[in-house]
Amino acid sequence: MAILVTGGAGFIGANFVRHWLASSDEVVVNLDKLTYAGNLESLAPLVADGRHRFVQGDICDAELVGSLLESYRPWAIVHFAAESHVDRSILGPGEFVRTNIEGTFTLLECARAYWSGLEADARSAFRFLHVSTDEVYGSLSADEPPFAESHRYEPNSPYSASKAASDHLARAWHQTYGLPVLTTNCSNNYGPFQFPEKLIPLVIVNALAGKPLPIYGDGCQVRDWLYVGDHCAAIRTVLTSGQIGETYNVGGWNEIANIDIVHTVCRLLDQVRPSPTGPYEQLIRFVADRPGHDRRYAIDARKIEQALGWRPAETFDSGIAKTVHWYLDHGAWVEHVQSGAYREWIARQYDAGSAP
Ligand code: NAD
Ligand code: DAU
Repeated sequence: MAILVTGGAGFIGANFVRHWLASSDEVVVNLDKLTYAGNLESLAPLVADGRHRFVQGDICDAELVGSLLESYRPWAIVHFAAESHVDRSILGPGEFVRTNIEGTFTLLECARAYWSGLEADARSAFRFLHVSTDEVYGSLSADEPPFAESHRYEPNSPYSASKAASDHLARAWHQTYGLPVLTTNCSNNYGPFQFPEKLIPLVIVNALAGKPLPIYGDGCQVRDWLYVGDHCAAIRTVLTSGQIGETYNVGGWNEIANIDIVHTVCRLLDQVRPSPTGPYEQLIRFVADRPGHDRRYAIDARKIEQALGWRPAETFDSGIAKTVHWYLDHGAWVEHVQSGAYREWIARQYDAGSAP
C-alpha cells in the first residue's frame, strides 16, 4: 500500500508526511521539486525510513508522474505542491500559472490514465485529494457570513486565481471523467516548519534578530488561523471518509486581525525570551499595503464537522504558544532556510521600506 504526496517537503506537506507515517506503515512517495520552499531538513527523521521515498521532480513532468504511479501503484494522491506565497505571485505570476494550473492539470491527466487502468476494486478505492485555499472565495466585508463551500469564486491575487483555476480543473475531472476527486479549501495555517516569508514565522524570526516587524496597510486585515497539525488531521479525515466529488472547507474558528497576531507573538516572546532593548512591539513598522490585499477571510467549517466529525483540537492560544516555542528550539532549521535566495527575496520585498 502506498500514497503519492506532492509538495511533501514544503510546510504543510512535510507536516502531513510526518503525521501520516506516525500512524501508518504505508509507503509515502514524496514528489517535490525542492523550490526555495521545499526543505528536506523538515523530514530529517524520515531520511533512513524505508516508508518514505523521496523523489525530486516536477509535477509538470507527465512522464515522471506516470512512471511513479505505475511503479508504486498508490491508492491515493494527496496534492499539496504549489507556489503558495501571495507576495511572490504579485512580483512574478508565471511560476504560479505553471505549477498551480499546468501542474495540477498534468497530475489529473496522469491520475486519470492510471485510475482508468486499475482493476475494479482498486479503481473504487482510489482517491485524488486536491489541497486548496480559502483565498479562492475572495474577500469578505466585516459583516458577511464566513465562506461556506457554496460561496462564489472571486479570487483577487495571481496566487488565488491560479488556485481557483486548479480547483475548477479538479472539479471538471470528477464531473466529466468520474475521477474520484476530493477538494479541501483551508484557511491560514501556522506551526512548525513554516518558511519565514509568511506572517507568523517572519515576525518571530525578525523579532529575535531585532529587525523590523512589517505590517501591511493598517494591519486590520483578518485571517482565520488553523494550527497545521489540525489541518493534517482534517486531510486524513477527508481522504479516508470524505464523499467523492465533495469540497470541504477547513478552518480554525479563529478570526484574528494581523496587528493582533503580531502583538500576541511579541508578548509571548517578551515572556520567554525578553530582549535587553525592551518590548518587541517597538519593532512594529506599518508599511505600504499589499496590492489587491483581501480584507477578511473566515471559514464556515460546519460541513466537515457535521459530515465527518472533524474539529480543530488546538485553540489559537495553545497553537501559537507551541509555534513560538518550536521556532525558539529550532534555531538551526531557521538559519539553514535563510539561504542566499531567501535574503535576496527579503531585500527585494522590504528594503525600500514598503510592500510591492
Ligand atoms: P509551501 O510553499 O511551503 O510548499 C510547497 C511545496 O511544493 C514545496 O516543497 C515546493 O518545493 C513544492 N513545489 C513547488 N512547485 C513544485 C512543482 N512544480 N513540482 C513539485 N513540487 C513543487 O506551501 P504550503 O504552505 O505547504 O502549502 C501547501 C498547499 O496547501 C498549497 O497547495 C497551498 O495552496 C495550500 N494551502 C496553504 C495554506 C497555508 O496557509 N500555507 C492554506 C491553505 C491552503
Ligand atoms: O488563506 C490561506 C492562505 O494563507 C494560503 O492559501 C497561502 O498559501 C498562505 O500563504 C496564506 O496567505 P496569506 O497571504 O494570508 O499569508 P501571509 O502570511 O503572507 O499573510 C498573512 C497576512 O499578513 C496577510 O493579510 C498579509 C499580512 N502580512 C504578511 C506579511 C508577509 C503583513 O502584514 N506583513 C508581512 O510582512
